[in-house]
Amino acid sequence: MLKAIYPGSFDPVTVGHWDIIRRAERLVDHLVVGVLNNPEKRATFSLAERVDFLRELTASSAKVSVATFDGLLVDFARIQGAHSIVRGVRAFSDFEYEFQMALMNRKLMPELETIFLMPKEEYSAISSRMVRQVGSMGGDVRGLVPESLRERIAHRLRNPQDVA
Ligand code: PNS
Repeated sequence: MLKAIYPGSFDPVTVGHWDIIRRAERLVDHLVVGVLNNPEKRATFSLAERVDFLRELTASSAKVSVATFDGLLVDFARIQGAHSIVRGVRAFSDFEYEFQMALMNRKLMPELETIFLMPKEEYSAISSRMVRQVGSMGGDVRGLVPESLRERIAHRLRNPQDVA
């Protein structure tokens, strides 16, 4: 059974993340989307919101589940019994950070493999940070986040006090 983890902050999930989930799903028997719960890195969307968005998005994907984690990713991988980590690489500029993270994870858990996947090239400039910035200033996030979640994400970014 090939089980992989796709970890991230997903603050919020973007079309790029969704593209990577669908690509990874084809490669493994089970994909766990791991949502980071890091109290030190204050997220715009609450953990519950980030998880809800991902659960809704992946509801019809039998091979995908969503879980939260804190602490080290390798510890989460061990608990989940995963053999690999999936990370999306949009551009060369992502690579240095991703490479460092992959090598650190390998040092901590040599048997855990990191798999890099490329999202559609039209998504290469899209990040959660960009979505937050555009949305919080009233810009249109159409095409940046999954369409089924667009209104909720846009509403929350315009109304930061409405945290769930
Ligand atoms: O979506 P992000 O914010 O780029 O995801 C980063 C994430 C969650 C994959 C990374 O911060 C992480 O793995 N955090 C857990 C802490 C950890 O394991 N650190 C050691 C490896 S560098």
